[in-house]
Amino acid sequence: MTAVSESAEQVEHTTVLLQEAVEALVTDPDGFYVDGTFGRGGHTAELLARLSGRGRVLAIDKDPQAIASGEERFAQDDRLGFFHGSFAELQNVAAQMEKAGEISGVLLDLGVSSPQLDQADRGFSFMRDGPLDMRMDTSRGLSAAEWIASADEQEIARVIKEYGEERFARRMASAVIRERAIKPITGTVQLAKILAAAHPAWERGRHPATKAFQGIRIFINRELDDLEDLLAQVIDTLKVGGRLVIISFHSLEDRRVKRFIRDQEQGIKLPKNLPVRDVDRGVRLVKVGKAIKPAVSEVDGNVRSRSAVMRIAERVA
Ligand SMILES: C[S@@+](CC[C@H](N)C(=O)[O-])C[C@H]1O[C@@H](n2cnc3c(N)ncnc32)[C@H](O)[C@@H]1O
Repeated sequence: MTAVSESAEQVEHTTVLLQEAVEALVTDPDGFYVDGTFGRGGHTAELLARLSGRGRVLAIDKDPQAIASGEERFAQDDRLGFFHGSFAELQNVAAQMEKAGEISGVLLDLGVSSPQLDQADRGFSFMRDGPLDMRMDTSRGLSAAEWIASADEQEIARVIKEYGEERFARRMASAVIRERAIKPITGTVQLAKILAAAHPAWERGRHPATKAFQGIRIFINRELDDLEDLLAQVIDTLKVGGRLVIISFHSLEDRRVKRFIRDQEQGIKLPKNLPVRDVDRGVRLVKVGKAIKPAVSEVDGNVRSRSAVMRIAERVA
């Protein structure tokens, strides 16, 4: 758990699968590692604790607040450097640092951090009223309010259905179009009320706007595109023996990670009974162990960890 004070509100981020992820990542205490989702630095702190004086970490985050808090907290540790941007830029960043093919481990702990969710002014929460923003990177791109104001009904329905897996997406999109003609939709609670009113089957214990909010957030932040872009380049950035560790929080992410590792393990598809070695099938990455989920004790202490799944892979050629 990383406790960080923010200027506006006291917010914390509880790191998920902390020991398990770092244990899986570190194969060489002198190595160069990338934490692609720095957040509040929970994984990075543990990683630095396990590295030698020669080990190095590059911390990446889209969120300028995450980078600013990290630069302050770790100012004394010259083994750590920061990059504000997406992990989808990894290959370029590694090339600029002359680390392409030299990285000992890449860690991704996907999704949003607790400070992002809990600070009303970030606009992610349907429970706390704030401006409808939802951008992890507040320095660029369209806010959710700007997108909601300009997207057509089909696009809104597609985003809510595809990324939120919400079966009432079309009703919700039509309600958004109707309401925005009366009054601009600029607040999180305002949008949540519109979506909730369009949802005909409320479930106990779940806000009816939950899935739609997830869908809009994933779209605004290009979360699945960034993940796919990273997967397409990550093997070349790792050294042979280097590890990829990814923690996902919903099936849209985990499915992509799982499929990627499986496809890599299969290499070039040849008839099964041919006596061909992995290397001849072009296999460059293999999975390490099974998918790991948080222990019951972790879920009891941190409800946000309940949907986490961690997958580990290693570059072999
Ligand atoms: C779940 S939090 C990570 C928490 C971190 N492991 C810790 O222990 O504090 C996810 C973080 O990744 C960042 N993020 C999500 N997608 C990103 C991307 N494509 N590129 C860079 N950062 C991203 C978010 O801004 C957020 O700060």
